Amino acid sequence: MSNTSTTSAGRASQQTELLRRREKLLGKNTPLFYDQPLHLVRGQGVHLYDVNGHEYLDVYNNVANVGHCHPRVVAALSGQASTLNIHTRYLHEAILDYAENLTSTFADPLSTVMFTCTGSEANDLALRVARHATGAMGIICTRETYHGNTSAVDELATLFRAGEAVGAHVKSVPFPDGYRPEGGLQDQELCDAYLRSIDQAIAEFQQEGIGFAGVLICPIFANEAVPNVPAGYLNGVAERVQAHNGLLIFDEVQSGFGRTGQLWGYEYVGVQPDIVTLGKPMGNGHPIAAVVASSELVNAFRSDVMYFNTFGGNPVSCAVAQAVLDVIEDEQLVSNARDVGHYLRSGLQDLQQVHEVMGDVRGPGLFLGVELVSDRQAKQPATQLAAQVINTMKAKRVLISKIGPFDNVLKIRPPIVFSKNNADQLLDTLDEVLTELVKQGGIS
Ligand SMILES: Cc1ncc(COP(=O)(O)O)c(C=O)c1O
Repeated sequence: MSNTSTTSAGRASQQTELLRRREKLLGKNTPLFYDQPLHLVRGQGVHLYDVNGHEYLDVYNNVANVGHCHPRVVAALSGQASTLNIHTRYLHEAILDYAENLTSTFADPLSTVMFTCTGSEANDLALRVARHATGAMGIICTRETYHGNTSAVDELATLFRAGEAVGAHVKSVPFPDGYRPEGGLQDQELCDAYLRSIDQAIAEFQQEGIGFAGVLICPIFANEAVPNVPAGYLNGVAERVQAHNGLLIFDEVQSGFGRTGQLWGYEYVGVQPDIVTLGKPMGNGHPIAAVVASSELVNAFRSDVMYFNTFGGNPVSCAVAQAVLDVIEDEQLVSNARDVGHYLRSGLQDLQQVHEVMGDVRGPGLFLGVELVSDRQAKQPATQLAAQVINTMKAKRVLISKIGPFDNVLKIRPPIVFSKNNADQLLDTLDEVLTELVKQGGIS
């Protein structure tokens, strides 16, 4: 007994010491998940292990898309790292082989790739390509989103900068929200209302002499909590972009690489963009990201701009990314995301019959959102409950998160090797946690 308590006291003080060092070395408010932060030491497949040897089911991490520490990805990384790693101004087959394999998965004319290290850089570069091609500056984005952390990209959105305005060359429009529809409208009327805000933004750019360069959005609106988008909305956006000679940029940093049950989010939504940006799952944790566009767009940009990225698309990164692509194909992970996603979604819908607080269940493939509300009719966001749920789930060794304009949508987004058994564990734990918390009362 005294041994156990000494050990847990020792662990608590180790945690306190890590937190103290972190704050001193990395600065205050460097983000951390959970009320009691996790100290992880190992990952394998869909599982993570903490310093005490506890196993957690990872239902959050989309970066380790093919599973934590996948042996083929690790072998590709160490094999190339022990042979050659160099920047991208030399000839190397691995870079071209990967570029060829990657672009072969896209529809024409998306045939040319520019490598970067992060999704932020990819979006930053996509903005430069679009502004170069159109000779205009104006970019339309949705409100309540996030596309990254460079200065140009940071100007697009205010999700993590409450109270600040978007940049001078940016107009943000409401995201298409089927759950809390603008003006209480429905179907075509709702779609038209959201499209009017695009029309208005384009007209304003033109009146202001800024000009219209394009629209940058995530095809599944991942950071807007995967809303149910009114039918026809994305087609309407694409038509407007084309009619005004802009470019449609899809940020596939979250929706790409099989997450939706299609390899690319644009295939899932059935609307083809002019430019696609990729990141997060591309290297399963290794930093590689990209812009994919037509050779016409890329060549025109490159003829005027010497874009070079020291680390982006180096031989090690490309070997890793190739292994990720191979694993997705060989393990049939796109169909797994579709099948297990469907199974999980219907399991969540069953739970919704029992738990009044589950106001909405939505999302594509293995990216599901559960909107928690204190009153289903009034759709009053249960923000505090969402925080309690993710912390209690964590205590029961299942990791999820939350998102959305009210921070009340449970974010369920596991590596796409997730199985039906894993889904059952998540569903059982969520059921248990919601029952417990609701019994305790005071839902808000
Ligand atoms: C949709 C989307 N785009 C871009 C980014 C930025 O990617 P990175 O953190 O690799 O720069 C993120 C990060 O969360 C994202 O969610």
